[in-house]
Amino acid sequence: MQDRDALVACMDKLDNPFGVQVHEYILDKKVDATGEKLGTYGVIKGASTFLGVSIPKTDLAPLAAGYEFETLLLYATHLGLGTVWLAATFQREHFAAAMGISQEELFPAISPVGYPAAKRSLAETLMRSTMKSSARKPWKELFFQKDLCTPLTAAEAGAYAQPLEMVRLAPSATNAQPWRVCKDGNLYHFYASYKSGLSEPEQLIKQVDLGIALCHFHQTALELGLTGTFVSAPQADRNLPDTMHYVLSWQAEKEI
Ligand SMILES: Cc1cc2nc3c(=O)[nH]c(=O)nc-3n(C[C@H](O)[C@H](O)[C@H](O)COP(=O)(O)O)c2cc1C
Repeated sequence: MQDRDALVACMDKLDNPFGVQVHEYILDKKVDATGEKLGTYGVIKGASTFLGVSIPKTDLAPLAAGYEFETLLLYATHLGLGTVWLAATFQREHFAAAMGISQEELFPAISPVGYPAAKRSLAETLMRSTMKSSARKPWKELFFQKDLCTPLTAAEAGAYAQPLEMVRLAPSATNAQPWRVCKDGNLYHFYASYKSGLSEPEQLIKQVDLGIALCHFHQTALELGLTGTFVSAPQADRNLPDTMHYVLSWQAEKEI
């Protein structure tokens, strides 16, 4: 109960640097407005409490959802609670009705929250091994300088090595790790890497993934006392490959 109160207090204080109004929800599973069973297709067992997030249909909103909901899940983890982002394997309409989410809003994800089991189930072990959930891409595939071809090493990243390492370790849908970062002076340009032709809901989840990455980057930078702001930096002079979708840039107050 104490943990639930702490989560609610955290939800009240959540904020994001993109100026978007994000809504978070907490639902005890027995509160079921529709009388339908709330389902997660057998993926989640025994959870009795769920967190949810909804956003307006505006440009930066999916980034803000990723940023704020990840802040909440990191806090839950800090309390010793188990969580997992679910964007696909849950019955969206049933949860939307039970959480009272308006049709005007987008509803990108939920997370069960509870005390984690001591041991992984066989199904979870199989799923994690299929998605290589414990693996992460190396620095040289994610972080670049100037031209998006030259890798940025941790030594070259200096004080920003740790914020970038926290980006690298972030969770993402199907563990796709779509974030790419290119350092140009005191600017860190963030991109989402995905092939063209993705459906709108799939593109939305890539933006949510990038919001999670920006949360890890920004929270670590704040922790280390690295100041700066998020800006939109024109990319017209860059010859970007089709798979590289510009998102936002971090402008560090000074180059380190
Ligand atoms: C935006 C997002 C959506 C996700 N959706 C699902 C989902 O629908 N079902 C599921 O089982 N896992 C889902 N995941 C969990 C990822 O598969 C998991 O984070 C990834 O495999 C890395 O594993 P780790 O978080 O344990 O390091 C999602 C993760 C994110 C960030």
